[in-house]
Amino acid sequence: KRREWRDAGMRLLGDCAEWFRQNMATPQARQAHDYLQSREIDADAVARFQLGYSPDSWDTLCQWAQRQGYSPDLLLATGMAVQKEGHKTIYDRFRGRLMFPIWDELGRVVGFSARVLDPAIKTSKYINSPESEFFQKGSILYAFNFARQSLKQFGHALVCEGQLDVIACHRAGLTHAIAAQGTAFTANHARLLKRSANEVVLAFDADTAGEKAAQRTVALLHGAGMSVSVVTLPQGEDPDSVFRKGGASALQQIMSNSQPAVPYLFQQSSAHHDLARPEGLSAVVNDVLAAIKPIEDAVIRTAHCQWLSQQVNLPERVLFDALQALR
Ligand code: CTP
Ligand code: MN
Ligand code: MN
Ligand code: MN
Ligand code: MN
Repeated sequence: KRREWRDAGMRLLGDCAEWFRQNMATPQARQAHDYLQSREIDADAVARFQLGYSPDSWDTLCQWAQRQGYSPDLLLATGMAVQKEGHKTIYDRFRGRLMFPIWDELGRVVGFSARVLDPAIKTSKYINSPESEFFQKGSILYAFNFARQSLKQFGHALVCEGQLDVIACHRAGLTHAIAAQGTAFTANHARLLKRSANEVVLAFDADTAGEKAAQRTVALLHGAGMSVSVVTLPQGEDPDSVFRKGGASALQQIMSNSQPAVPYLFQQSSAHHDLARPEGLSAVVNDVLAAIKPIEDAVIRTAHCQWLSQQVNLPERVLFDALQALR
């Protein structure tokens, strides 16, 4: 019974992806096509990433799905429909948006991310499938199903923030790109990734959120036993904007220029604190040690501490003690 319910939900999600895709051929999808054109996303990328359109209406999807025999309960459970508190009627969660199917590692659709098309709409730029038995954002990496085959060839995974960044990377031949869909990379993501790669290159947006996320994510990946490098994009850019401005070669060039995580974090933190003052020195040392701390391998941890002690001109013992205090 449980099994049947799950299978039906997975079937519904797959059918919805196909339905969104087919909607691209309807006259109402004009706005989606204009948007794709403005973002320079070609037909090949649309096909490869199965992009679609959710009609700007209250219940077109719900009506269609129920005609296919899917129950309102299943529409609610998969997050495709929503229900107002205390009301019986259900309506479509995704309306008038560009639809990105989200796949699990086997390539089955488990949810959606939906981008607003009308720049005048100031509500959430992206609406995602809610947490459910079908979709757990914290353990799904966007495009992991595509990237898996490339991880060996590249020797590492390229982790970006968003779907559009991943699509730009894949178009530039960087088919090892994946995204945690935002800056909330989790320990689950790290564990999932560790099964297929030992090294990660982080390419988050060059803004405050991206920099903060990089610091957090390095620690998580270190905790999962991975070595990490970080790409510094031009200020204010993300991989998609780099691709649009400079094409495949610009993106490849930037992505090949990553810096090992510990020196990267040291540089970032030094830019925010005054190393000439003891308080600033302490802040920088603690920022970097926070990322060294989760590393299980004592040799690697020690090597990072030695490097840091040389940079800040403090005895190694002081750093080991500080690290011990953190652990
Ligand atoms: N995201 C989200 N909800 C939001 C904002 C962002 O789920 N309200 C996720 C999306 O997966 C998005 C990613 O975080 O792709 C990165 O966010 P952001 O950098 O703001 O968006 P971009 O991917 O750069 O999208 P765009 O270029 O269209 O602005
Ligand atoms: Mn961002
Ligand atoms: Mn971005
Ligand atoms: Mn962007
Ligand atoms: Mn700091």
